[in-house]
Amino acid sequence: MYYPEELVEEVRAKNDIVDVVSGYVRLQKKGGNYWACCPFHGEKTPSFSVSGSKQMYHCFGCGVSGNVYTFVMKYENYSFPEAVKQLADRAGVKLPEMEYTEEQKARAGRRARLLEVNKEAAKFFYYQLRSPHGTIGLRYLQKRELTDETMRRFGLGYAGKSGEELVKYLRSRGFEDDLIKEAGLANFSERHGLMSQFWNRVMYPIQDVNNRVIGFGGRVMGDGEPKYLNSPETPVFDKRRNLYGLNFARTARSGNIIICEGYMDVISMHQAGFTQAVASLGTAFTPEQANLLRRYTDTVLLAYDSDGAGVKAALRGIGILRDAGLTARVINMKPHKDPDEFMKALGKEAFQERIDQAENSFFFEIRMLEEQHDMSDPESKTKFHREIARKLCEFTEDVERDNYLQAVAEKYFIGIENLRKLVVSYAAQTGLAKPAERPRTGVQQKNSPEESARRAQRLLLTWITDEPPAYEKIKKYISAEDFTEELYQKVAERLFADMDAGRFNPAGIISTFEDEEEQHEAAELFNTNLPELGTKQDREKAFHDILFSVKKNSYEYFSARLGSDVNALNQVIAGKKALEELAKTHISLD
Ligand code: GTP
Ligand code: MN
Repeated sequence: MYYPEELVEEVRAKNDIVDVVSGYVRLQKKGGNYWACCPFHGEKTPSFSVSGSKQMYHCFGCGVSGNVYTFVMKYENYSFPEAVKQLADRAGVKLPEMEYTEEQKARAGRRARLLEVNKEAAKFFYYQLRSPHGTIGLRYLQKRELTDETMRRFGLGYAGKSGEELVKYLRSRGFEDDLIKEAGLANFSERHGLMSQFWNRVMYPIQDVNNRVIGFGGRVMGDGEPKYLNSPETPVFDKRRNLYGLNFARTARSGNIIICEGYMDVISMHQAGFTQAVASLGTAFTPEQANLLRRYTDTVLLAYDSDGAGVKAALRGIGILRDAGLTARVINMKPHKDPDEFMKALGKEAFQERIDQAENSFFFEIRMLEEQHDMSDPESKTKFHREIARKLCEFTEDVERDNYLQAVAEKYFIGIENLRKLVVSYAAQTGLAKPAERPRTGVQQKNSPEESARRAQRLLLTWITDEPPAYEKIKKYISAEDFTEELYQKVAERLFADMDAGRFNPAGIISTFEDEEEQHEAAELFNTNLPELGTKQDREKAFHDILFSVKKNSYEYFSARLGSDVNALNQVIAGKKALEELAKTHISLD
């Protein structure tokens, strides 16, 4: 489904990573590499390096690494094919049309048609708003203090009083009735035929991260039920996996993303310059949305309504964000109801202050609990303290739990030791929370024997790519099979084959993997932080140790598989010999 490997490689080779990256960040040459402050995490001193010889980047601060494709993917939030497309355009390489099976074509065709009909409907609504019929809609939006610029940016529109015009228009543009219906733009009735779903409403087109219109929200002007009418779910409109405003927020680079409840909140926040605001699509915030956000930020601020429903939604959201490994903070909107009203009443400086003061989600949860308990009643107060202990047990890390324990004890004047006892007794009854299973972050947490073995394999590959001549010295001891992790083995195979043929192209190897996660993992193999070693002697010893450790692990790995793997016997015999030889061999690194 992707482009041919040779073409991917051609495009990559024609886009020098130093050139491409310097289009995004200011690089400074130092030594053999180029340096900048990392665009992927906040920092003041440069630890992001770009290597022209490896054609890769690596940040010593946050650990990201990759080639020119992964850089563009990460910076622009592109998929792999999108990155290939952009860089091919940049280098003037023509890409072929991708090949699909008939079924894929039909499905992709249907989705494409749905997106087209949505886009056409958005255009229709947009022009309606600016036509004489639309004056009423325009007035409404103006009354809500939206500027023309904002209305344009969000593509706001108006659905007229007649239920027929949209349908007529779409038919005239060649869209079939069943497509219009499937897009949720119209409904069929025996009496009236196909009639627009939306009429006499201001229209908010809902776009996905790639700016494609996937659905609509329509608001009554003034009072009326329902206040918002949203498109139904369709093959292109998945309410669980999209967020309103994310197409803009993804490039806001503000260090956080703000989730609001309503479309209007998002629009009004963006108008005030807070382009990191998003909202869910008329449904509660979902784990899928949290996962989506994790691609863009590690801190999410909740700007939910200050009423009871808003607090409930915030408490729910906090749990979901926490499970996704995101930091959540809560913005206090009081005395106003929502961000839109707040902005109108107090303005953006005041809102920025609220952002800066956003409350740690744990303290928010505790404060909400406090409100449910009567502190003048000892029984109720005790219950409150028990609730705190229960919440503390949700922390999986001892240090973190203890820090919170101390802070909360101080804040609520509870004796630290008493609270600690409560936590212990609570944990004894129910157990402490287990660390949540989280997708790989690149940060290794524990050093199991397997992880130590993998680390040695990574170090060896990085060392060889940093110092290609080292490969010549060790190739008689090592082969790709010694890399016992499947992905590592594939990478080693390519790297060694290339080097045996006198080529050196680690950046190209990364893009032979289709899966984004695998590309990052492959890049990591070439960019493990090597130990800082002063003397040549130390370096040689370290190198020898790493090599020995990889070899030993491989020997043990195949020994354990002697009965089941036909290859194992050869590997074990050769491995044993190599180990014995290595033990008494000095490898020099000149
Ligand atoms: P304004 O009242 O125009 O300021 O809108 P708002 O964006 O502040 O909306 P509100 O806070 O009332 O609601 C938050 C979100 O819930 C909206 O943006 C809609 O997505 C959704 N919503 C609100 N009312 C309805 C409704 O009647 N039906 C449906 N399906 N969704 C609604
Ligand atoms: Mn509102």
